[in-house]
Amino acid sequence: MSSELSTPDGAAALVTGGTSGIGAAIARAILVAGTPVALTGRDGERAAQAAEALQRETGTECVGLALDVTEEASCAALPGALEGFRPIEWLVNNAGVAETMSSTAAGSLDLARRLMEINYFGPLRLFEAFAPGMLERGRGRVVQVASSASLRGYPYVSAYVGSKHALMGWTRCAALECAPKGVGVSAVCPHYVDTPMTRRSIETMKEKTGRTEEDLRAFLASQNPGGALITVEEVADAVLSLLRSERSGVIHELTGGAQVVIEEGVSIEAR
Ligand SMILES: NC(=O)c1ccc[n+]([C@@H]2O[C@H](COP(=O)([O-])OP(=O)(O)OC[C@H]3O[C@@H](n4cnc5c(N)ncnc54)[C@H](OP(=O)(O)O)[C@@H]3O)[C@@H](O)[C@H]2O)c1
Repeated sequence: MSSELSTPDGAAALVTGGTSGIGAAIARAILVAGTPVALTGRDGERAAQAAEALQRETGTECVGLALDVTEEASCAALPGALEGFRPIEWLVNNAGVAETMSSTAAGSLDLARRLMEINYFGPLRLFEAFAPGMLERGRGRVVQVASSASLRGYPYVSAYVGSKHALMGWTRCAALECAPKGVGVSAVCPHYVDTPMTRRSIETMKEKTGRTEEDLRAFLASQNPGGALITVEEVADAVLSLLRSERSGVIHELTGGAQVVIEEGVSIEAR
């Protein structure tokens, strides 16, 4: 096991939304690096099956648990539920949802509230549950799977963009507060990634426009500054590098051609 890539002996990582897409790739990369993982999804059976498959594939311990990040009590109870597992030293807030709607449509306020509950308050609930343990031990890392939607606007996704901007603002503040206490808080901001979420968007666009899947995939790739859809493995690599970083408040943008450090953050003080 590479000590450079792992949490200290006995500790583990928690990846929310680890049943699919980017979260599953992050869980796999952490397990391959030799660190045990607890992954979550809303359906406990699906999460357990995903964890079992990843443990079989990588040979590193992985457990799957049910968690809806909108449920305050379940998030607060998660450290207790993991007591028999290991202390969580790496938290990856990946679970998230994207939905499209015009900002002028009836119902846009309801959608904005719903996405804030998942994409903004979800990561905050997990932070509230696990940060005290990290701060007490004087070490830990939190990585937010944010988005290019944390950095700029796009038409018809104001609820998603609002929730991801809010997450980025919060992350910048928490990063500065935690760095002197041995804990790092950073974020990755990918443009379009080839995942089930993106494939669902392509299906919606297909129904609305009549364009072919191939055409729409090429269109989304052309929207990425690097000209290609990002792979889940590229996002997982960026997350791992932030989990291993000695800096807090680092922001990586993934363009579909390059991984760019757009904010360098501050040094984490050893405790
Ligand atoms: N795809 C992209 O182009 C892209 C680009 C930038 C950023 N992102 C971000 O990357 C993250 C992962 O996206 P993805 O593309 O991998 O999407 P995905 O394949 O749809 O996976 C989303 C994950 O989030 C979980 N999830 C959804 N709602 C949840 C809730 N209320 N509570 C707990 N878990 C929940 C899902 O698990 P269950 O269904 O099992 O509950 C699933 O594991 C999201 O935060 C997204 O905003 C995606």
